[in-house]
Amino acid sequence: MHVPLVDLRAQYATIRNEVEPCLQRICASQSFVLGPEVEALEREIANYVRAPHAIGCASGTDALELALLACGVGSGDEVITSAFSFIAGAEAIMLRGARPVFVDIDPDTFNLDTDALERAITSRTRAILPTDLFGQCADMSNVVGIAELHGVTVIEDAAQSLGAEHDGRRAGEMAPFTTFSFYPSKNLGAFGDGGLITALDDDTAGALRCLRTHGESERYVHAQVGRNSRLDALQAAILRIKLRHLDQWTALRQAHAADYTKQLQERGLTERVRPPVTAATSTRHVFNQYTVRVESREELRAHLQSCDVGTAIYYPVALHRQPCFRGVVDAKLQLPDSERAAAEVLSLPLYPELTEAQRTFVVDRIAEFYA
Ligand SMILES: Cc1ncc(COP(=O)(O)O)c(C=O)c1O
Repeated sequence: MHVPLVDLRAQYATIRNEVEPCLQRICASQSFVLGPEVEALEREIANYVRAPHAIGCASGTDALELALLACGVGSGDEVITSAFSFIAGAEAIMLRGARPVFVDIDPDTFNLDTDALERAITSRTRAILPTDLFGQCADMSNVVGIAELHGVTVIEDAAQSLGAEHDGRRAGEMAPFTTFSFYPSKNLGAFGDGGLITALDDDTAGALRCLRTHGESERYVHAQVGRNSRLDALQAAILRIKLRHLDQWTALRQAHAADYTKQLQERGLTERVRPPVTAATSTRHVFNQYTVRVESREELRAHLQSCDVGTAIYYPVALHRQPCFRGVVDAKLQLPDSERAAAEVLSLPLYPELTEAQRTFVVDRIAEFYA
């Protein structure tokens, strides 16, 4: 049986009848960049995450860069971020001329450890950039509380967590800036790159809109040096269709994740394959990934691959160990929970259309490996 890590074709088959006429409509309009589809998507996402403003842009990485630009992060500043995450946040900090300060994670949730965060604050700290890894919000009430106490801003990287909630509050309504990615494999994926930022106040939203179009305040008048980072109408139209299905897809992801955990427990495998932990404060985990911690990861992965089961390692190298940060990070810095996570994590196939037979097949192959 073939069980891919992600199966976008299965999802497309369910929405094809909605998508194709819509693509034809955009082609007939020949209006491609920003415009009414993007504005409608921005309103719908703002409504979905209960944020006052949403600003579309070209990718989740650009969303992070635009947020850092809007809050004025630059040379000499420090931005505290998790050492166990995708590179985009730390990369954006470096590209602004600032310094990423990596802190360790909570080993249960893989998200920023807020005690370590508090210890890392200095007079140079300008912002905190937590990631909601694998679809579970970081400990956002604590992060925002610490930021307010120290007068610094927060950019929540919610690329993997559209629709996730912390203490009943949604990613997008908690931090001054929340960034999202519509990369095709995300819970809400475009047919290419796309991203979005939510903001809580009018001035920030205005600044972000200006920055995404070359800092233009009025036609050919540039109040600031900005970027070209716009969302296009084709992507927005597709995302609007998919957004209508997102809650149902999320419920399926949650049910499949619960079923994996149940099957691993029933087979007595949870000592060797530790299921993901949902924090008590994580009131809606949207499972962009089902990530376990395993013994003998490389061998298990090779076994699953030989059985036609796709897996992924998000992420094999903790950020403070990445070659591109040599010279920026103290070579002796040790962040044991991030390093252990990088050595142990394995993401199993998870997507709404995954069948029970496929899940059982995956768990059978895991059981066979450890037998
Ligand atoms: C946590 C995280 N941040 C940022 C990004 C960057 O998003 P994009 O690929 O849309 O630039 C991703 C995408 O993989 C991500 O997973």
